[in-house]
Amino acid sequence: MLRAMSIMNLSEPSHGDIGGERKNLTPCTIVIFGASGDLTARKLIPALYQLFKEKQMPADFRVVGFARREKTDASWRQELRTALDQFSRTKPVDDKVWLAFAEKLFYCQGDLTDDVAYKKLETQLTTFGSAPLRENLLFYLAISPSQFGEVVEQIHRSGLLNKEGVGWQRIVVEKPFGHDLASAQALNRELTRYAHEQQVYRIDHYLGKETVQNILMFRFSNSIFERLWNRESVDHVQITVSEKIGVGDRGGYYEEAGALRDMVQNHMLQVLSLIAMEPPVSLEAEAVRDEKVKLLKSIRELTPADVARQVVRGQYFAGSVGGQMRPGYRQEVKVNPDSNVETYVALKLLIDNWRWSGVPFYLRTGKNLPMSASEVRIQFRPTPNVLFAAQCGSHLDANALTLRLQPNEGISLRFNGKVPGTTIGVRPVRMHFSYDAEFGAYTPEAYERLLLEAIAGDATLFIRRDEVETAWQIADAIRTGWDGKPLTNREFYAAGTWGPIAADDLLAQLGHTWHEPQVIK
Ligand code: BG6
Repeated sequence: MLRAMSIMNLSEPSHGDIGGERKNLTPCTIVIFGASGDLTARKLIPALYQLFKEKQMPADFRVVGFARREKTDASWRQELRTALDQFSRTKPVDDKVWLAFAEKLFYCQGDLTDDVAYKKLETQLTTFGSAPLRENLLFYLAISPSQFGEVVEQIHRSGLLNKEGVGWQRIVVEKPFGHDLASAQALNRELTRYAHEQQVYRIDHYLGKETVQNILMFRFSNSIFERLWNRESVDHVQITVSEKIGVGDRGGYYEEAGALRDMVQNHMLQVLSLIAMEPPVSLEAEAVRDEKVKLLKSIRELTPADVARQVVRGQYFAGSVGGQMRPGYRQEVKVNPDSNVETYVALKLLIDNWRWSGVPFYLRTGKNLPMSASEVRIQFRPTPNVLFAAQCGSHLDANALTLRLQPNEGISLRFNGKVPGTTIGVRPVRMHFSYDAEFGAYTPEAYERLLLEAIAGDATLFIRRDEVETAWQIADAIRTGWDGKPLTNREFYAAGTWGPIAADDLLAQLGHTWHEPQVIK
């Protein structure tokens, strides 16, 4: 049992708060392809409304929703208002703010494959008063990746994509970026046939999370930790992204994806690269992304034999999660009753570079686990236990630093302290930092930050082409190891448990154990 120890939070803003100035944002128009979809209603419009409410949007902007269904500006606005009541981060929706925001929303009905629709879009843009609204264009492709190529070609042909030095034009795309290296390369070729790589903003919503961004601040602005961030001091690292939810109504998508493609290839490798990369030469997008790619390239390649030893997959069967019965994965809607798709992955990666040689990085993620929590645990090497062995036994807990990405966003440091009393007793205690306690409950949605960065033209938080392709190489090697091998009994786990036993065995190979994500009360 650990005893929590609080620390005083230093909140003098005089020396503490640095930066935070938003860049000047030029007026622009955001064109959302797939405006009738879920992403638009749940994430994009709520994020834009919130930014507008907080006066973070450019002085002037328009949003054009492009989709096939017949709608008017008024009916689209009405639909979005209903969605906002449900999905807005701050409720209730402020009527005055909404009315001012709604005036900037326009609907363009059309088929993605129809030239005439793009003509209509072009004409609509010409009705917007100032030149920047017609020239600075953010195209958000909230559509299936199979349609990316078509849309990019169409906006290119209609003269909206490359205005030859007039204003700026950018394309934002969502995952999945392919389902393996070859399809990702094909997709990237389609995207960049008419757009420059610098115009393409690939979203991984984990990079929009405050706590994920804080990894860089934490690592590179604190000398005491910076010095310890290497093989001399770190014993191993655990990255856990556990989800209490099952696949729900996404069975159809999940059958094509699985946990490796859905979570590891993108979100988890992104977190890993921020945790492990070298300091970039600056915070410029290319400098940061160069380091992330370098890190991904230093991950030791996995042969099929390595996959058998170092990667554990699992699939949930029926069980109880938090007192609620859940069906097994094979019983979910749109799932093949004999499916071999993994809903859980745990793996050990080794990074062959000067800093991390020999330090195992353990990653695990899964659906229907006992709790929803994402965290990174840096487990430091133990001290030589010569002093306290007689009194406290041979095992002395080593220091650990936990970055809680969500929920209970914060950081904890575990160290040993003396148990008060006349005898010598040592016990691990923790120091906690909590975002809420220090900064209040302000946690912007990932999409707010990402939309703002795309409007500002800062690509640091977006994934570069070589990054996405390198991450696929890692995922593909694992899939090759699994190819043609159906799941075995050892690979199933009951919903509501921490995954298959084999995941414990994986850590036991080197005498390690998984640590349950922290619950901070
Ligand atoms: C998505 C995955 O990218 O991330 C989902 O497709 C997953 O399966 C989600 O549930 C997790 O995101 P978050 O922000 O809830 O941790």
